[in-house]
Amino acid sequence: MSDLNRIRSEMDAVLRPEGAHPDRNLKITRRIFIQKSIMTGAAAGAATCGLFPIMNGIEVAYGAEAPFSFAWISDTHLYPKTVNTRFVEKTVQAVKDVKAMSPAADFLIFGGDIAQLGDPVELDLGNEILKELTIKKVYIPGEHDWYLDMGKKWGELFGKPTWSMDHKGVRFIGLDTVSRGPDYWTAKNMTPEERMGHMATLDGTVAGPWAGVGRDQLDWLQNKLADWDKAKPIVIFTHNPLYEYYPPWNFWVRDWRDVQEVLKPYTKVTNIHGHVHQVLYNEIGTMRSIGMLATSWPWPYAPEGVPKLTKPMIRVDPGDHFDGVGWEKVSVNPGNQVARDDVEYVMWGRKEVFIQSEADYDKSTPEILRARIADNMYPY
Ligand SMILES: [Fe+2]
Ligand SMILES: [Fe+2]
Repeated sequence: MSDLNRIRSEMDAVLRPEGAHPDRNLKITRRIFIQKSIMTGAAAGAATCGLFPIMNGIEVAYGAEAPFSFAWISDTHLYPKTVNTRFVEKTVQAVKDVKAMSPAADFLIFGGDIAQLGDPVELDLGNEILKELTIKKVYIPGEHDWYLDMGKKWGELFGKPTWSMDHKGVRFIGLDTVSRGPDYWTAKNMTPEERMGHMATLDGTVAGPWAGVGRDQLDWLQNKLADWDKAKPIVIFTHNPLYEYYPPWNFWVRDWRDVQEVLKPYTKVTNIHGHVHQVLYNEIGTMRSIGMLATSWPWPYAPEGVPKLTKPMIRVDPGDHFDGVGWEKVSVNPGNQVARDDVEYVMWGRKEVFIQSEADYDKSTPEILRARIADNMYPY
């Protein structure tokens, strides 16, 4: 057995003990349903009658004190308006949609990549657009926000990237998964723009395995949860997923096993993340992870490693920049009540018929995906 396989085998034995699964009292179920277009107002010209966006609902019911909702927007990837207004329009639309939520969201979490190249103009633009929302706002950074000035401007605008808050019986945690990348720039005398440029690629061949939580934040997390009842709900916001999805695109954090170690004793942990720009769902041990949409563009699914609990998005129409993108609404409800549509992926541009091509691309055929290597070797 190779070293890699041995490590995976050990990891599997530790993280997936016989019968371990997220606490079913959370009542999370998933379903896909088609609903008549909810698009209104200022959306693109494509948003007219006859469009039927698919909303991917995940039902959540926590033992929270009272039912509530919050909204997530991320991955707006704003350019200066002089370069591109397409992403600006979509961010404005997301803000309008959040404002129109009923019942209203208690707060907004912005999940990172507000900017495309960390330009202060881009970060200021994002901040201005989000000011339209008067509800409480909390933020975590994405790599696109960070690597021009190493988070200086982001911090001035949005505060500390690591935080926690308790809200109606749920402990919310914000973690920074982007700032602890290995130094790939000093030895090569890169300018800040060059450093940022490498971060702005999907295939991080130069930046390497930059996504990570880091020992300092792991220790902080452990302390932060020390006084929290192991059976009470925890929601952790991160830009990158807290598991190994696809390392070549940094669709992971490199120290995810350490994260799992810290979280293992807690039975109601939900990780909500951005960065992947696609619908994802995964469970490891007692933690579930929910991958959120971008408003900018949808990334393709990785060639391998898509969690088998994911119900993949149907391929998007590349000619429609409102397709495959949108925002999410997450609701948290008390006790055993299961509310409808507690997490909704709201895709703006979803059409009933969106592509006509080879069989593989037919709308009735789901994505052809390879199972994770680890899943093949150590099936449930
Ligand atoms: Fe992104
Ligand atoms: Fe990202």
